[in-house]
Amino acid sequence: MPNTDPIMPSPAPLLAVTGLEVHLGARRDRLRAIADVSFTVARGETLCIVGESGSGKTLTALALMSLLPPRIAVTGGAIEFNGRDLLTLDAASRARLYGDEIAMIFQDPMSSLNPVLTIGRQIDESLRRHQPALARAARTGRAEQALGMAGIVDAAGCMKKYPHELSGGMCQRVLIAIALVNHPQLIIADEPTTALDVTVQAQVMKSMRAACRQTGAALLLITHDLSLVARYADRVAVMYAGRIVEQGKVQAVFGAPRHPYTRALLASIPSLDTPVDRALEAIAGEPPDFARLPSGCAFRPRCTLCRQRAICADRVPPLLADPADTYHLSACHFADELIMAAPAGRTALCR
Ligand SMILES: Nc1ncnc2c1ncn2[C@@H]1O[C@H](COP(=O)(O)OP(=O)(O)OP(=O)(O)O)[C@@H](O)[C@H]1O
Ligand code: SF4
Ligand SMILES: [Mg+2]
Repeated sequence: MPNTDPIMPSPAPLLAVTGLEVHLGARRDRLRAIADVSFTVARGETLCIVGESGSGKTLTALALMSLLPPRIAVTGGAIEFNGRDLLTLDAASRARLYGDEIAMIFQDPMSSLNPVLTIGRQIDESLRRHQPALARAARTGRAEQALGMAGIVDAAGCMKKYPHELSGGMCQRVLIAIALVNHPQLIIADEPTTALDVTVQAQVMKSMRAACRQTGAALLLITHDLSLVARYADRVAVMYAGRIVEQGKVQAVFGAPRHPYTRALLASIPSLDTPVDRALEAIAGEPPDFARLPSGCAFRPRCTLCRQRAICADRVPPLLADPADTYHLSACHFADELIMAAPAGRTALCR
């Protein structure tokens, strides 16, 4: 029987990343920034990648988009989209695929839009590149429809404007429209609302999620904001020091985290019933430095649960499934043993 659960990775996922490895710098003094990252995205689902600054979220997204900067390279693993290996695609197929079947939304809307072209022209350029057979009137219709889906009420008026005439929130909606206009199957959004104020953030996220639902696009949402994860993700992957340390359905991860880092992250966000006078728990210690990662588990210097166990220093913990929930993976030697009660009220944040 086919897998009909939209949030479960299907036997043939839309995107399958396996053992991804990315190195920084020249060959002689290379640093590994991404190690053994594996995840899937099913058609129509929202997977969030979450983690502190520097954990490797953006590099993972850029590797998926073949947009890694010079001297940063994929050095291992596989990225399959719809069964095609993205790492070995020729340049022509790559140019067709990106912007058409896979689209990316970046963090800073102003620097992603061309200041000297109207919004209509910028959307039209993307359409002409990917849908050369579409007539002008049909392209205008598609552009207005995409702007509407991104939550812009006066789409025709917006098309005539230049980016500087729009607010940050409107510009981000325009980028969402540009991402949507070619009806991609996967949208990768890297901190799409971080530059916006909180109320605008919520509205833009709602529009983006609704547009994905409407078009059936899957969403790979990168964020450090766990309240966004709770609200919009089907599944979540938690990154630490370039590795995925926990992955699972959002209710399972928020309700019963199986990695001390996830638990610490959850304890550091306010829940609906956190008393206003109660201080949130900060994550102790410094974020990891890629040039000086400790042996074994990279979270060890900050882990309050390792109890000086030798294995934490000796071996990198593998990402293993919870015996009771095969979709809930964690990379802690003691995931089955340690009692990591979820901080109270965090599941209440979930949809
Ligand atoms: N262009 C670059 N040159 C050198 N190092 C880089 C570059 N881009 C990223 N890095 C390094 O790679 C590591 C992962 O960076 P990445 O940008 O993926 O983190 P991130 O999780 O997206 O962080 P943030 O939440 O701050 O966006 C970091 O140590 C970062 O300093
Ligand atoms: S493997 Fe050890 S150091 Fe790492 S998170 Fe688990 S208990 Fe902590
Ligand atoms: Mg980033």
